[in-house]
Amino acid sequence: ESNCMTTPRWIDEEEEEDENLSPTDLSEMLAEGTKEAHDRAENCPFVKDFLRGNIKKELFKRGTAALYFVYSAMEEEIERNKDHPHIAPIYFPAELHRREALVRDLEYFYGDNWESQISLSAGIKLYVDRIHEVGQKDPVLLVSHSYTRYMGDLSGGQVLKKVAQRALKLPSTGEGLNFYQFEEIHSHKSFKQLYRSRMNELELDPETKQRIVDESNKAFGFNVTVFTELEEIGKTIKEEVQDAGSGHSHAEIMHGG
Ligand code: HEM
Repeated sequence: ESNCMTTPRWIDEEEEEDENLSPTDLSEMLAEGTKEAHDRAENCPFVKDFLRGNIKKELFKRGTAALYFVYSAMEEEIERNKDHPHIAPIYFPAELHRREALVRDLEYFYGDNWESQISLSAGIKLYVDRIHEVGQKDPVLLVSHSYTRYMGDLSGGQVLKKVAQRALKLPSTGEGLNFYQFEEIHSHKSFKQLYRSRMNELELDPETKQRIVDESNKAFGFNVTVFTELEEIGKTIKEEVQDAGSGHSHAEIMHGG
């Protein structure tokens, strides 16, 4: 394979050597083994639109509700298994758990009556059902579900928070965006390092490590399904995108705001 930038041969060999050595640390197996799934997730139209600030408030609310169902299931199963030897080392409820932050966000968006206004879509149900199945039959695979969500939230969350705040004109106090704010984590980078080292210290045979990578790819797939559902719902919602650029929506300009 060649491209316009001819690569010196010695670099080529070094890279080949690197590729042939498959990692045995779980954190590296996960990073390497979910790279393609991550690329696919990043390139979903819903995700790309969001990153461009092209997001309707109604859709953002529904996305927050989807996260609420997913994290409720995940954290319920993590709690159930918090003493399990494969879960205890990655059990960080104060630092990571998002359910309560999501409840506050839903209260902000929907009011006190939020619970009666949200419901599970087909895609969210598949995701949630799988999390419960794993938590009850094969808890080691909760590592995959935690990794896929929490490490992602700690990686891209701050960017997404700023985009949403600007696009939806949410208050600078952070209301509606508690999900993105990890109050108990001061350095995302060092917490991710701690989390990776805890995953690497789990006593796991190679086959189980591979099953964890496979389940993580499955978790990415569930996320993509939910993004696709949201994208489809977005097409049916007749709501102006709140134009972050001019500060005036099309509706305001057309109808005098
Ligand atoms: C890591 C960007 C969407 C899950 C990362 C990192 C970046 C990134 C730059 C690396 C951070 C670092 O090396 O410290 C993005 C962007 C996204 C996106 C721009 C599009 C909005 C997602 C989604 C998921 C996800 C949808 C899963 C639901 C992860 C995970 C990691 C990660 C698990 C940790 C990888 C590792 O170090 O093992 N992301 N991401 N990301 N992201 Fe994303």
